[in-house]
Amino acid sequence: MVATRVLDALRAGLCGRRLIVAAEGQTGVWLVGGAVRDILLGREPRELDVAVEGDVEALARRLGDVDALHERFGTATVSAGDCRYDVARTRSEHYPVPGALPDVRPAPLAEDLRRRDVTVNAIAVSLSDGGVEAVPGALEDLHGRVLRVLHDRSFEDDPTRVWRIARYAVRLGFAVEPATARLAAHARPGAVSGERFGHELRLSLGEDDPCAIFERLRELQPMALPEGFDPRPDGVAEALSLLPDDGRRDLVVLAACCARMSLDLLQRWLDHLQFPAADRDLVLAASRWVTGAPLRAANTPSQIGRAASGAPVEAVALAGGPNARRWLDELRHVRLEITGDDLLAAGMPQGPPIGAGLRRALDAKLDGRAAGRAEELAVALGER
Ligand code: CTP
Repeated sequence: MVATRVLDALRAGLCGRRLIVAAEGQTGVWLVGGAVRDILLGREPRELDVAVEGDVEALARRLGDVDALHERFGTATVSAGDCRYDVARTRSEHYPVPGALPDVRPAPLAEDLRRRDVTVNAIAVSLSDGGVEAVPGALEDLHGRVLRVLHDRSFEDDPTRVWRIARYAVRLGFAVEPATARLAAHARPGAVSGERFGHELRLSLGEDDPCAIFERLRELQPMALPEGFDPRPDGVAEALSLLPDDGRRDLVVLAACCARMSLDLLQRWLDHLQFPAADRDLVLAASRWVTGAPLRAANTPSQIGRAASGAPVEAVALAGGPNARRWLDELRHVRLEITGDDLLAAGMPQGPPIGAGLRRALDAKLDGRAAGRAEELAVALGER
């Protein structure tokens, strides 16, 4: 029943059919992890996770373009058109230091399943013969919509699993089994590198409801997020509704959550998490805009322009309110027909007066007092 559902779902899709064809003639090829879980829940898997008792590279090359091949872990990421595959040699893991990356060695599937994070991710279906293997209780937990770690050291081995469980709980609507929640409360997030922690944060920001994930995470592990981080700040829904298509949804959410953190702490935290400098600076800037005071106080289009121009769209969206909407939808697109060269040609000296003249002309245009080139030029030159 389980195998039939999974294999039928694979056959029904292009990516699944491609996998079945690539696996023909090779034994020990299993669909596993999130892909099996999602298919059995009636959800579209995000990518197909494949475990191989044998030659990973041969299967990966038959499947499509090998984007990355990690000899140390025996893993390959493969793409073929819109299809994404994670192919991995079945392995056991040993964590020499809590929170560090594990030592791995090839092992049979049963051992590979036992090293995983939660029972519902430890179900495998054979592409060779339709066999099913799972850790004890996995199918029952899937049916009961429960997240349960496989052993008591799970969070010690890998504290990022607290993040994963918070993400699954929110995305799938699953409950965290009480003993698992107790173990999560004792996890030591500090044992994980900033880079891995940052990766988990970025994955959460890419989900449908990151704030619900942060709330769940904080319930599970109060130390996982820094002091002052507000998992569910006011105004996020409005900011996201205001955000134009060229804005970054993930950074708006993060900036809103970080509005009450001191700038210094926030900068150190984002650097620790290895945020790219441009993203970090945007979050720093936008996080200070949540009150939106100067923008909200503006009474005319030119005042709105002066309050908002130069700010990233994410910051303006966070300020919220009708002035933010007007800037984002309409006023930020207003452009002068004249340039500084026109002012120079008209005899204005090089230097700050040029910028001030252009600013005057833009104010007038925004307020409807200058239409067309000639009027813009006259305002910029101080003739009207
Ligand atoms: N896994 C694990 N512990 C981790 C990371 C991964 O046990 N810290 C295992 C899980 O069995 C997981 C599988 O590796 O299902 C694949 O990892 P990943 O693609 O991150 O998990 P998915 O469940 O497929 O994630 P998503 O649904 O978010 O794509």
